[in-house]
Amino acid sequence: MAAGKGTRMKSRTAKVLHRLGGRPLIQHVMDTAQALRARRTIVITGHGADDVEGWLRQSAQAAGRPAPDFVRQEPQLGTGHAVQQVVPVLPDDGIALILNGDVPLIRAETLQALVDKCGGQRLALLTVEMANPAGYGRIVRKGDAVQAIVEHKDASEAQRALREVYTGFMAVPSAKLKAWLARLTNDNAQGEFYLTDIVGFAVADGCEVVASPAGEQVEVDGVNSPLQLAELERAYQLRQARTLMEQGVRLADPARFDVRGTLHCGQDVEIDVNCVFEGQVTLGNNVRIGPNCVIANARIADNACIQAFTHIEGEKAGVEVGEGALVGPFARLRPGAQLGPDVHIGNFVEVKNSSMARGAKANHLAYLGDTTVGERVNYGAGSITANYDGANKNRTVIEADVHVGSNCVLVAPVTVAKGGTIGAGSVINKNTEPGVLTVARARQVSLMNWARPKKK
Ligand code: UD1
Ligand code: MG
Repeated sequence: MAAGKGTRMKSRTAKVLHRLGGRPLIQHVMDTAQALRARRTIVITGHGADDVEGWLRQSAQAAGRPAPDFVRQEPQLGTGHAVQQVVPVLPDDGIALILNGDVPLIRAETLQALVDKCGGQRLALLTVEMANPAGYGRIVRKGDAVQAIVEHKDASEAQRALREVYTGFMAVPSAKLKAWLARLTNDNAQGEFYLTDIVGFAVADGCEVVASPAGEQVEVDGVNSPLQLAELERAYQLRQARTLMEQGVRLADPARFDVRGTLHCGQDVEIDVNCVFEGQVTLGNNVRIGPNCVIANARIADNACIQAFTHIEGEKAGVEVGEGALVGPFARLRPGAQLGPDVHIGNFVEVKNSSMARGAKANHLAYLGDTTVGERVNYGAGSITANYDGANKNRTVIEADVHVGSNCVLVAPVTVAKGGTIGAGSVINKNTEPGVLTVARARQVSLMNWARPKKK
């Protein structure tokens, strides 16, 4: 169910497209459904339907999966009315599992247990005990047997005191669901078609209704407001932090750690506070990440160290950091940066679409764009490649063992041959010979009889 408006988000974006851990809320639910190997996934859209369907089509395509089926609910007349829209496309055999697009942290195991309880025979409801159940549908029992779900607005004082509530998730034999949906009315406090009324029909038909408890509260918490979104984001991040720590990753503080994508870690990885990982990130064995780093779409090999405030943004081309490399503090690696083993990248150095071979160094205030850097090259402070002539990007080649002095400009396309040295302050726009010193700047002169101007 993803048709709701999400008024309290006060946003133009459809509620289920707001992001948690870098993925839209609905994507979390879809990924969980995928883990259950559902035969079919049907999404009920309404508010923001074009955006929601567009996102899900595109994300399914990117993952190489078939897109889900969509049905539209317009206008929105309640949760029962929402599920009624599915009837024409729902097969008669099998079990229908009803999920909420705005409840992102539900676990596949919890849902599997719910499906198992249904077993193709029973109506299985996911429930939870709440200290403050206001607003929720209450589970009304007679003895142990579930009799009905009564919505808060329709409940008596005695029923409102019940703390066991319906979470919005149920598993139900599809054929029975269809029959019960046909019997819904909107004769209630909200004038809506309540899905929850099918519980009463099940009882009347002699179908067993079972309640299955949720593992933990956050699994069934929905997002209705920015505050709830932020609270679930933290819960989600803590869940990921715990999983990584169970694998041996040492996080300085699990409360200050964010993964908005997938993070794979080797053994003895240490991550300091306030780091953000986005997209696909892989850290090898003994990798250390200093505080306040942002790392997106990168592979960092064994024993590498990324120091404080480093920004790595691999995007599509990716970034590779070689074994034992030392990057930062305050370094910036952009798409296509490929650092070999033992490369050093220091503060305020930017590397884009460039490879650096083993042992090459650029330690201070430098730019390397569209460049091939050989082994052991030392690239001086303040030096840059002028890789863009205003129309095209051109490549620079710096062969092995070159020493580029400080504050040089290498005007691409240009090659600095093996073992050469470039004097500080040079502007190099012609290829150089191997092993020579090249200086391209005005000679130093001193004017002996020069006098400073004096104030008139
Ligand atoms: C519903 C349940 C309530 C339960 C609560 C758990 C009903 C009648 N009540 O309450 O027992 O405790 O969930 O959160 O089902 N939606 C549509 N179309 C609609 C109405 C809703 O697609 O016409 C979607 C919403 O986008 C949302 C979900 O259904 O994803 C639940 O709707 P919401 O209004 O949040 O649930 P409640 O009515 O508060
Ligand atoms: Mg409602």
